[in-house]
Amino acid sequence: MSALSNRLAGWARSLYARIALVYLSGLLLLSVAVAWLATSQFDQLSREFQQRQEAGLAGNLARVMAPALDAGADSPAARRMARHIVAINPSLSLYVLDDRGRVIADYARPPCGLGSRVELAAIEALLGESPMLPVLASSPCGGEPGVFSVARIRYGPEGRPGYLYADLNKASEASMVAMLRTSSITRTLVAAGGLAVLIAGLLGLVWFALLTRRFSRLTGAVQRFARGEFQARLVDPGRDELGRLGRAFNDMAGTIEAQLLALRETDRQRRELVANLSHDFRTPLTSLRGNVEHLLEREDLTVEERRRRLTGILDNVGRLTRLADQLSTLSRLDAHDRPLQREAFSLAELAHDIAGKFQDQARRRNIALEVTCDPGLPRVEADLGLIDRALANLIDNAMKATTPGGRVWLWARAEPGDGVRVAVSDDGVGIAPDELPLVTQRFHRTRDGRARGEGSGLGLSIVSEIAERHGTRLAIDSVPGRGTTVSLWLPLADTLHGPGDAAQA
Ligand SMILES: Nc1ncnc2c1ncn2[C@@H]1O[C@H](COP(=O)(O)OP(=O)(O)O)[C@@H](O)[C@H]1O
Ligand SMILES: [Mg+2]
Repeated sequence: MSALSNRLAGWARSLYARIALVYLSGLLLLSVAVAWLATSQFDQLSREFQQRQEAGLAGNLARVMAPALDAGADSPAARRMARHIVAINPSLSLYVLDDRGRVIADYARPPCGLGSRVELAAIEALLGESPMLPVLASSPCGGEPGVFSVARIRYGPEGRPGYLYADLNKASEASMVAMLRTSSITRTLVAAGGLAVLIAGLLGLVWFALLTRRFSRLTGAVQRFARGEFQARLVDPGRDELGRLGRAFNDMAGTIEAQLLALRETDRQRRELVANLSHDFRTPLTSLRGNVEHLLEREDLTVEERRRRLTGILDNVGRLTRLADQLSTLSRLDAHDRPLQREAFSLAELAHDIAGKFQDQARRRNIALEVTCDPGLPRVEADLGLIDRALANLIDNAMKATTPGGRVWLWARAEPGDGVRVAVSDDGVGIAPDELPLVTQRFHRTRDGRARGEGSGLGLSIVSEIAERHGTRLAIDSVPGRGTTVSLWLPLADTLHGPGDAAQA
C-alpha cells in the first residue's frame, strides 16, 4: 500500500505529471472561456433576433389599444384590452410610460412596475433611424436589462404623449433555454467542441509522454555512466535541443572513457616497470652476494681467482650504478612539466669527454674507440646533461654489440638545414630488421641482448625520449652482422656564430 502511494507521489513529482497538469488545466480553462463566449454571443444573437422580429409589435398593439387609451392610460377599458392581449401572448408584459419614461400604467397582475423608470435614451435609440440591435433597457419590474418593443402613443382625453412599452425579456429567455435544450445545432456544436478538447488533450498527453521518455532515456544513460558503465551512450539522440544535449553527453562520455583507458594503461606500465626493475636489481645483487660470500668463506684463494671475483663485483656494481642512472634520467624525462635546460655547447668537446670515460673498458675488451668530428663544428643548443646521457647509452650499446678486435666510433657533422648530426657507429652484430622498430620500447631487449644476459632494455627508450623532448629526429640504421649507426640531429646554438666559436668554447 505504502509502496503504491510512494510510486504515486513520485509520479506526481515527475516532469510529465507537471506538464500534463498545466496543459490539461490550461485546456480546460480555454474550453470554459470559449464556451462562455459562445453562449453569451449566442444569447446576444437570440435577443437581437427576438427584438428584430418583434420590432413592430408595440406599434400594432398601440393601434389596437388607441381607442381604449383615449379614456386614460389606466382606464378600465385600457386594462380590459391589455388583459385580452396578454391572454393571447402570456410571455408579454405591457406598460404605458409618460413622456419621461415613468411607468403610469402596469397591466400585469399584480402590478409590479408602477412608478419605476425606463431609460429614455434606450427607448429613443430603438425608435430612431436604423438602431444597432439589440437595444437593452432595464425592465420596470427589475431584473437584468432585456429587449423590448416600444411605440409612441397619446393617452387620456387631453391626448398626452407617452409610450406603449412591451417587455420581451420573458419571451426571449424562454426561447433561449428552449433553444439550448432542443436545438440540434447547439448539440452538434457542444459535441464537436467536446470531441476537439478530448482529442487535443489526448494528443498533448501522448506528445509529452514521448518527450519526457527521451528525458528519461538521457537520465538513464547518465545514471549508468555514474554507476561505472563507462560505455553507456545514447543511441540516436535526435536533432533538436534535447538531441544536442544527448550528443554532448556522448562526447563527454567518450572523452572520459578515453582518459580512463589512458590512466589504466599508465598504471599497467608503472606496474610492469616495478616488476622489471625488481628483477633487474635482483640479478646483479645475487651475483654480488655470491662473490662476496665466496671471498669471505675461502681464504685459500689464488690471486687469480680473487681477482676474478673482485672484477665480477665491480661489474655488478657498475650495472647497478648504470641502472640507477637510467632510472633517474627516466624519472626526469617522465616529469613533462620540467622544462629542458637548454644551453649552447660544443659537441666535439662532449664527444671527447664521453669517449674518455669508455676508453679503459674499450682497451680491456680490445675495441678501438674513436672520435671523429668535423673541424670547426658549430655549437649546438640542447640539454647538455641529457645529451651526455644519450651518447653514453649509445656507446654502451655499441661496445656491448662489438666483439674484440672491433671498432666503435663517435662522429658528428653539420648538415645544412638540419643542424648537427651526431652518431655512434659500430661494426658489431647489428639488429635484425624485425626488431628495429621495437628496440626503442622500454624494457625491450633483442635476442642477442638477452643471449648476452646483460642490459635492462631501458637505454634506447631513454635516448628516444630525449630526442622527443628536444623535438629532434632519431634514426637507427643497422645491417645484421655488419654493424649499427644510431644518429641524433641537434639544433645549432646560434646561426650568427661562425665555425670558429667551437674552438673558443
Ligand atoms: N648498436 C647496437 N647493436 C646491436 N644491438 C643493439 C645496439 N644497440 C642496442 N641494441 C639492442 O637493442 C636492445 C635495446 O637496447 P637498450 O634499450 O639500450 O637496452 P639494454 O639496456 O639492453 O642495452 C638491446 O637488447 C640491445 O642489445
Ligand atoms: Mg643499452
